[in-house]
Amino acid sequence: MARKIRIGMIGYGQMGRIHAYAYRSIPLFYDPLPFEPVLAAVADVMPGAADKAVRQAGFAQGTSDWRRVVESPDVDVVDICTPNADHLPVLEAAIAAGKAIYCEKPLCTNLQEAEAILAAARRAGIAHQIVAEYRFLPALLRARQLVADGFVGDVFHFRGLYLHSGYVDPARPISWRLRREATGGGVLMDLGPHVIDLMRYLVGDAAQVRGHIHTFIHRRPLADRPGEMGDVDVEDAAQAQLELRRGGVGSIEVSRCATGAEDELRLEVHGSRGALSFNLMDPNWLYTYDATAPEAERGFRRLATVQRYPAPAVAPAPKFSIGWTRAHVAAQFAFLGALAAERAPEPSFVDAVAAHAHIDAIYRSVASGVAEAVPEVR
Ligand SMILES: NC(=O)c1ccc[n+]([C@@H]2O[C@H](COP(=O)([O-])OP(=O)(O)OC[C@H]3O[C@@H](n4cnc5c(N)ncnc54)[C@H](O)[C@@H]3O)[C@@H](O)[C@H]2O)c1
Repeated sequence: MARKIRIGMIGYGQMGRIHAYAYRSIPLFYDPLPFEPVLAAVADVMPGAADKAVRQAGFAQGTSDWRRVVESPDVDVVDICTPNADHLPVLEAAIAAGKAIYCEKPLCTNLQEAEAILAAARRAGIAHQIVAEYRFLPALLRARQLVADGFVGDVFHFRGLYLHSGYVDPARPISWRLRREATGGGVLMDLGPHVIDLMRYLVGDAAQVRGHIHTFIHRRPLADRPGEMGDVDVEDAAQAQLELRRGGVGSIEVSRCATGAEDELRLEVHGSRGALSFNLMDPNWLYTYDATAPEAERGFRRLATVQRYPAPAVAPAPKFSIGWTRAHVAAQFAFLGALAAERAPEPSFVDAVAAHAHIDAIYRSVASGVAEAVPEVR
């Protein structure tokens, strides 16, 4: 019989729901399945949220005390879906309890905390994966393979944009995402980990960065004090120019004030032999350009990557259109599959610390006004 993997989730907000959906979908999407995901327990501090998770998602039990879940002998995996600053105490307790950990990005609120967590996880010998679901879209799995096979040749340019528009409205109140103490930063800490992870996944680390940040709306209504306004202490937009460690240059831009954008994650790679382009709002296709083709045949091609996952993926069928939630299902399948096979999961906390190292260097560059080095993370 397939090994049961018992999941204890901490935080049942937006991402808690999506992770629960993904765990429930795995047995329907993958067959045969080398493990059986079990929704063993859930904790959320908001009154009623854990009970709702039990009713909605089918967790066996719910509590408002996350320590009970982390320390429960009935839990193998701790899945952390709380706001950023609340990851740290849960991470520390889960490592101390010897649990495998699946943690939402960013791992922590700064590089130093993230390094300490990686060191503790290594000492404890636990399995760990950071949520970087976009790596698991077929278009980006294919992009990585093409870069590794030399399709683009030497990389000249990487360009990554992640644009949201949720904070264009000045009447949007201050939630935890707009408070530095809860996040460690603004949009760079929020959307930055995704675009940095994909840069590293496709073309490797940056060696040096020059960063800029900007806040457009400095005061907003306070959610918990009707009629009162509060100061926003994080940035709405960030940009960085990069020198890539393997050669070539790059840029990243992230914003939550990109009017008109929905979930606009765009990536472009240009190299000596070819180019690649991807847009998350058009996720069924990877655009490729082969500069070695005869001139009359050159031009961007649209590869149908759609929902083409390798076995044991059986559903939805490969031709059906793909989306954000399917990437989460694939990321969680990869994590639990690695645990079942006793392999180290990827992307791990090493990748999470590397993302923090880039973010930290960008913030240092904003403060110093000059380019800053990104330390190598291994
Ligand atoms: N991978 C992605 O695509 C993606 C997308 C959005 C958010 N995120 C990340 O997921 C995390 C959660 O974001 P969200 O949008 O779900 O937030 P959210 O505000 O919707 O949900 C957070 C939940 O955690 C609960 N909570 C807070 N502190 C807690 C604690 N100490 N113990 C138990 N429960 C606690 C809250 O009551 C809430 O229900 C963040 O780190 C965020 O950066 C990732």
